[in-house]
This record gives sequence, structure tokens and C-alpha cells, in this order.
Amino acid sequence: MKKLSVLLVALGAMCVASVTAQASPQTDLKAFQGYFKKRFPNVPLAAYANGAYALNANARAQWQSIMMFPPYEFELANGKKLWHTPFKDGKTYASCFRNGGVDIAQHYPYWDSGTHEVRTIEMDINSCRKRNGEAPYKDLTQGPIAELTAYMKSLARGKLVSINLSAPGMLKAYENGRRFFWARRGQLNFSCASCHVDNAGKFIRGNVLSAALGQGLGFPAYRAKAGHLVTLDKRYMGCNKKVRAAPFKPQSVEYRDLEVYETYMDTGLPLEAPSYRP
Ligand code: HEC
Repeated sequence: MKKLSVLLVALGAMCVASVTAQASPQTDLKAFQGYFKKRFPNVPLAAYANGAYALNANARAQWQSIMMFPPYEFELANGKKLWHTPFKDGKTYASCFRNGGVDIAQHYPYWDSGTHEVRTIEMDINSCRKRNGEAPYKDLTQGPIAELTAYMKSLARGKLVSINLSAPGMLKAYENGRRFFWARRGQLNFSCASCHVDNAGKFIRGNVLSAALGQGLGFPAYRAKAGHLVTLDKRYMGCNKKVRAAPFKPQSVEYRDLEVYETYMDTGLPLEAPSYRP
């Protein structure tokens, strides 16, 4: 742990906030994607959906060979089975979603004008359960919720991200998420940007740091370290802990707002979930 903090402090010293937060989401988006295009001119935009593998050819080659027999197949198949298994009332998940849940994951998160909140796939899956007389899943980081989310995202694999920020509440969530992303926190005083913007593509303890662009598009992801699928919030929690900041609860307002910001920055990139990460 001591070694890690020395390394992080060294990385921190190199940090220059090269992308400053701008006034409107459209301007932010242009600056954000433009920054990475300029910094890594040979990386196609769509490749960022594959996280760190966009930025390092060696890591990418290893990953591609793992993806030939993806370790998440079993859980994805289970997600599919759960998706099609009728609830006690005879309905299935498809009944809760527009278009039966097909080709809609690229528009998440969205603003629900009825409940006045940002809604994620995980939340909609649990609401669907409640509406049909089933108990909601309690663990929001792994297990059935991750399997079902992975399955629903697989029904929109390759679709380009496009989320709607037009509701005032959604715009506010975006702004909160942006603030969260750029704010320094934890004993190490790092922001998300310190690692995933300023130091993207560099090594940290044998891992290539992914670019913030494309983040989330491979999640839920099978983590070799965990041995199963984990949700995006589980990853957020891990990154908060890395800088010794207290993590928030999965599906908390903070993480949902962060997901809004990160997903908006991914506009025009393809969904590639589920995926594999070390
Ligand atoms: C101390 C450096 C550090 C900080 C600060 C940090 N992360 Fe990470 N993050 C990592 C490492 C290391 C990984 C695993 C390698 C990779 O994919 O970047 C990772 C992975 C991720 C991933 C998975 C990317 C993918 O597609 O595989 C996401 C999403 C992510 N971080 C989001 C965040 C967010 C949001 C914040 C701010 C709350 C944050 N990180 C702060 C180090 C950091």
C-alpha cells in the first residue's frame, strides 16, 4: 500500500488538468472527445468502449484472446434465462420495458418525469420486479442484477450511446456528475480525471489506465479478480477506495449522476457490454 501511494503521488505531481469543465454539455462533449482525439490520434473513437485496451496493443492482444471464449458467457446465459422466466403473475421483464427491452440500453440513464429522478437499468429491473410482486434484488453490485443488466445491454450491443439531457432535472444531474468527476477526494486527493484523463494510457501497478472516454460501456464486466460479473457502481466504489475516499452506495444519487456525466461523454460510442476486465 505504501508503494502504491508513492506511485500515486508521483503521478499526481504530473497531473495538469488539461480539460477544463465548460459551460454547456455540448461544449463539454466537444472538448472532452477532442482532447482524447488529439492526445491519441491513432485511436478510433469507437475503440474507447474497450477501456484500457484501446490504448495499449499488448494488453489488447491478451484481451482479444480471452474474448474468444468470454468468461462471462455463463452469467450472460443466466441473465437471458432470468429475463425470460415468468414472474408469479406470468409476466416477464420484457413487459416492463419499451420495445421489450431490445435496443434501448444505449439511452440509459434517463430522466423519469414521473418519479423526478435519474433512472438506470439496475433500478428499472428492480422496479419491474416490485411491480410484478417480486422482491427487489438487494445486492446491486453483482449476481442476478449484474446478469440481467448485462443481458439487457447485450440486446443493444454495438448501438451508439445517445442520452437525453433536455429535462432540467437531468441537466442538474449532469452538472453534479461533472463536478463529482473533476473533484479531488480521498487521502490521496485525486480526482477521476487525475487518473483517467491526465494519466490515461500510463501504467499504474501493471495496469494500463483507461481513458475516461468510453468508460462504462463494457459494464457489467467480468472481473478476473472477482471471478464474476460486476456492475459499473462496483467499479466506481473500487476507484473511490483506491484514493482512500469513502465509497458511496451502489445506485446512490452520486453514482447515478456520475453515470449520467460519463455516459454523456460517451455520446456516439458503441455499447460493448458485457465485457472482460482483469
Ligand atoms: C488512482 C487512480 C484512479 C483514480 C483516481 C480513479 N480510477 Fe478508475 N480505474 C483505475 C484503475 C487502475 C482502473 C483499472 C484499469 C483501467 O481500466 O483503467 C480503473 C478503472 C476504471 C473504470 C473501468 C474502465 C473500463 O472500461 O474498464 C471506470 C469506469 C473507472 N475507473 C471510473 C473511475 C471514476 C468515475 C473515478 C472517479 C470517481 C475513478 N475511476 C478514479 C484507477 C483510478
